[in-house]
Amino acid sequence: MFKDFKLIAGRPVYIQVKDYLKHLILKGALQGGQKLPSTRELSTLLKVSRNSIISAYAGLTDDGFAYTVQGQGSYVSLAASTESAAAPSWTVDWKERMNSRALLAEELDIMKRGIRAEKGTISFTSIAPDESLFDLDNVKRAFLDRMSVEGNVLLNYGYAKGYKPLIDYLRQYMEHKGVDMRGKDMLITNGFTEGFDLVLSALGQKHGRVLCENPTHHTAIKNMRLNGFDITGVTMERDGIHLGELKRALEEREYDCAYFVPSYHNPTGIVMSPEKRQGLMKLMAEYRVPVIEDGFNEELRYSGSHVAPLIAAAGGGNSVVYLGSFSKVLFPGLRVGWVLADQELIYYLESVKRARSIHTSTLDQSILYQYLLGGHLEKYLKRARTEYKRKYELTLECCKEYLPYVGLSGDGGLHLFVTFPEGFSTRELLDACRERGVIFTAGDIFFTNGTGQNTLRLGFSRVADGDIRRGIEIIGRAARQLLG
Ligand SMILES: Cc1ncc(COP(=O)(O)O)c(C=O)c1O
Repeated sequence: MFKDFKLIAGRPVYIQVKDYLKHLILKGALQGGQKLPSTRELSTLLKVSRNSIISAYAGLTDDGFAYTVQGQGSYVSLAASTESAAAPSWTVDWKERMNSRALLAEELDIMKRGIRAEKGTISFTSIAPDESLFDLDNVKRAFLDRMSVEGNVLLNYGYAKGYKPLIDYLRQYMEHKGVDMRGKDMLITNGFTEGFDLVLSALGQKHGRVLCENPTHHTAIKNMRLNGFDITGVTMERDGIHLGELKRALEEREYDCAYFVPSYHNPTGIVMSPEKRQGLMKLMAEYRVPVIEDGFNEELRYSGSHVAPLIAAAGGGNSVVYLGSFSKVLFPGLRVGWVLADQELIYYLESVKRARSIHTSTLDQSILYQYLLGGHLEKYLKRARTEYKRKYELTLECCKEYLPYVGLSGDGGLHLFVTFPEGFSTRELLDACRERGVIFTAGDIFFTNGTGQNTLRLGFSRVADGDIRRGIEIIGRAARQLLG
């Protein structure tokens, strides 16, 4: 006994000794009532100071794992040994006990089935920001500043609706995007993803159907399906959703809501034109379908003029639910997003959020708030945009040079979308490219109707310039081979 004790760096030695002894007690190697070695003895055996052993024994006593007999030493508590706590052990078949939602979530979980990038692979699968661009110093300063102002409050429970200073900041932020804030309220969520799930889970399902662009954000498809909606995807044109097809879909069926990504759409990267936005809003008003707008990438504009979000076009109307996120613009590790919508909807969402997770981490919210307050978003965006724009142009140029595509889209953001000739399989292309050390996202996962086998998405934000060129050249060569 005591031979397998190993110290790790960075943790107080006495706690490590205490945990080690607890482990021995719990697995039955030290039995209830058994005398523990003297502190001197154990100090020699474990090669740690006697003080550490004294503190470890005191800790074990505090935690109820040991007791001291005056003048005799320390003993293992009777109740602490596993034998006294032993209950009949039995095995649960947890898969068997999963409900249909959990089984579907697992089935749709592409992260569990996705290809793992081996070391050295050029991977175009990610559309996360490039962490080497993060201005860590300002984030650290924001954290320390906020902690010194109200650290005690931040570490306690917060409000379900969110951290008030951040809400006030974001209300103004949205006002500057042209949104009429009258009658609207805001709820802070764990990113877009939680906001979307909250809204979908709170909506009544009179028709059980949702409208969206086809293709669309894979996580959104997953959440719509997990919330029990049938999805009707509407084809996209080069400047956004096909309005004729949208009208047809609206004529054919009724919908509980629609989900659109009007700016730097995932996966196509398309920005819906102002005319289409107007046309879309007219149709949605005519057919009385509330819109869930995903504004996740709006800030990553490299050229062209600002296009107002749909919620701004709705004016004083209350039919648009805007979901905001800084996950691509700033730091996705701070899980902060926001729902801006009619105050009555937020009133209910607040209760759903409270029941589900109480609130989003106040620490995350306050760091983001202090960072935004200090004007760092503007400075960071300038730098990030310059870098991403360069990569975007390089990726575009390489696609044009090397890929035998029939369609290429992406007006900004962190990815481009490529369409190959009909009948081409990007899954086969992916297999061929993986062998040559390049991977990307096959586009079929973004389609709502099982199509898109001839498409792929190229995320360039985290790929080095040289690798962008080399990778796309490899994809191009493999594609031409497959095309014959
Ligand atoms: C279309 C779309 N919306 C929103 C997000 C951001 O989600 P979150 O804020 O939960 O990180 C992403 C991320 O990839 C996305 O592609």
